[in-house]
Amino acid sequence: MTISLTTLARRGAQVLALTALASSMAAAQTPGKLKVGLMLPYTGTFASLGTAIENGFRQHVTELGGKIAGREVEYFKVDDESDPSKATDNVNKLIKRDQVDVLIGTVHSGVAMAMAKAAKESGTLLIVPNAGADAVTGAMCAKNIFRSSFSNWQPGYAMGEVMAKKGIKKVVTITWKYAAGDESVRGFKESFEKGGGTVVKELSLPFPNVEFQGLLTEIAAAKPDAVFTFFAGGGAVKFVKDYAAAGLKKSIPLYGSGFLTDGTLDAQGADADGLFTALHYADSLDTKRDNAFRLTYAKTYKLQPDVYAVQGYDAAQMLAVGLNATKGDASKAAEISAALVKATIDSPRGPFTISKAHNPVQDFYLRQVGAKENKKVSIASAKLEDPARGCKL
Ligand code: BEZ
Repeated sequence: MTISLTTLARRGAQVLALTALASSMAAAQTPGKLKVGLMLPYTGTFASLGTAIENGFRQHVTELGGKIAGREVEYFKVDDESDPSKATDNVNKLIKRDQVDVLIGTVHSGVAMAMAKAAKESGTLLIVPNAGADAVTGAMCAKNIFRSSFSNWQPGYAMGEVMAKKGIKKVVTITWKYAAGDESVRGFKESFEKGGGTVVKELSLPFPNVEFQGLLTEIAAAKPDAVFTFFAGGGAVKFVKDYAAAGLKKSIPLYGSGFLTDGTLDAQGADADGLFTALHYADSLDTKRDNAFRLTYAKTYKLQPDVYAVQGYDAAQMLAVGLNATKGDASKAAEISAALVKATIDSPRGPFTISKAHNPVQDFYLRQVGAKENKKVSIASAKLEDPARGCKL
């Protein structure tokens, strides 16, 4: 049998085409790098919080050898400036332009709600490493949306229980007028009033305003037994200093959700000494797990870790649990959810589980500031679960 040169050339071309097809199918089956989109504040009053979250996240990825579920991690970053008006455009840079597999963000509740909406519509996996907006794991909850931090309701509720048990009766609240402030106060009021206390006045100012003088004068005039507050980052530093400078620290005890004194103590100095707050982390837990985490963090970043660093670290832990269950496929939200709701996360804060609505079920500590640390006093509320109002999952 003789085969013509033309036939030979055609067969050669067919073999080449088949080889190319086989290798492109293999490439499609082998997931490439895991694209992680970090949407965090790197400027403004929450800048140091965003950096701590990124540091914590990277710390765990480094512990995993730079890979999650076998996929090398590649980072894409957007500074969200804690500005809700820019949030939809910012998150779409990560979803549409960079086509990330997972979004990690953010700090500010208003920005997080825009991220949750975009994640829900696009199906992109989202892990919120701070923002407490109740709706994220409440009315907006979804199979592909998770939180490694807290709901705003949780620390407020824990502090309300503590203050009612102390026999405090009349409280003035003061906070920023946005979801985190409003919801922290609502959580506080729920348990405080259940325990027999009354909120006599609710004061607020727009985020990120720090002109507190007029409101401090109103607090002095109201003469409450105590004040409950939510402020964080640069605003918390200024509030604690202004409260002391106004002479109120001596006469009207100041309590807060723990963001008031987390990551802020160097700047607040003696003005923060003695303050009581409630949070899901403390500087003095003295567990093997937390000590190891703190040592590595301090060595790597030449900084002491805070609650934000822990939440970033745990976002990476949660991502690893979820993706290990899907062999690295971030689009399989139902399988990721199933793995996470039955997991226990071995966090530096202490072990926690994840509710059906995808929010941590965790202990809240009563802490007191001393020697530049948030020292654990007791457990204010054990295994506290957010009520997840409006969540249908
Ligand atoms: C928030 O906006 O949800 C938030 C910001 C800083 C600390 C805690 C909560």
